[in-house]
Parts: sequence; structure tokens; C-alpha cells
Amino acid sequence: MKTIVVINGPNMNLLGRREPEKYGAATLAAISEALAREAAQLGARCEFFQSNAEGELVTALQEAGGADGVILNAAAYTHYSVAIRDAIAAIPAPVVEVHMSNVYAREEFRHHSLLAPVCRGVIAGFGAGSYSLALRALLG
Ligand code: DQA
Repeated sequence: MKTIVVINGPNMNLLGRREPEKYGAATLAAISEALAREAAQLGARCEFFQSNAEGELVTALQEAGGADGVILNAAAYTHYSVAIRDAIAAIPAPVVEVHMSNVYAREEFRHHSLLAPVCRGVIAGFGAGSYSLALRALLG
């Protein structure tokens, strides 16, 4: 059975209460449960990790290196973390960068990703659906 590791970065633990006009009303737990159900229907399993700390995200990526794929919403770190970029480049697992919001329709500082060049692909702008699309991309 394929294993997909889902890693969320800073402030994603506040989903449901955090700027709902941008990120919707669903909590991270609800989004994760729905994704786990979807993975099971596709014959796969998900493991979930969230942290607000850059180093913990680096460690989580290193530990996910043997998985069949990684779905990563590094949140604000996307735009400036060399350490997370290097961790993605260091592991064999394909990583899909996801964002719930369309970062290109927002402030200019969100238009640049340090991570995208070392990711398998990028999905942005579909709310919780961004995770589902990434799951299907990795399992397809
Ligand atoms: C985000 C977009 C980032 O720019 C922002 O810092 C986040 C969430 C998204 O999912 O849309 O925290 O990654």
C-alpha cells in the first residue's frame, strides 16, 4: 500500500478560525480526515504532520524520504526557507507544493516560492481541494 505524507507548516493548525474568507471554515483535522478517507478509497494511506517550527518541518521531510510521496503546505516558509528547500532536494520522495489560496492573486511577496523548483509540481487556489488534487497527482 502506498504511503503519502502530508506536512503542514505554520499557522495551518488555526484553520477554521484563521482568515476564513481566504482559507475556508474547515479545520485542519477535518481536512486531514477527508483526505485520509479519499486515500483509503484509492488504496493508499496518509500520515499527517503539522508544525509551526522550521526545523521540525525539515526533520519531518527527512523522515518522509522513503514515502511514496509528500504533500507539503509549508505556508509562509514557502516564500523564504532555504532549509526546507534543501530538505526537499535531499530526499528521494516526490514532493507536491500545495496552497489553499491562489498565492498569485495575493500580495507580491507570496508570488515567489523557494520550494517550487525542487518540487514535483505545485497546486494552489483550490482550498481543501488542493490537497485532494495533490493526492491524486501523486497516486496517478
Ligand atoms: C498558504 C499561502 C501562504 O502564502 C501563507 O503564508 C499561508 C498559507 C496557503 O495555503 O494558501 O500560511 O500556504
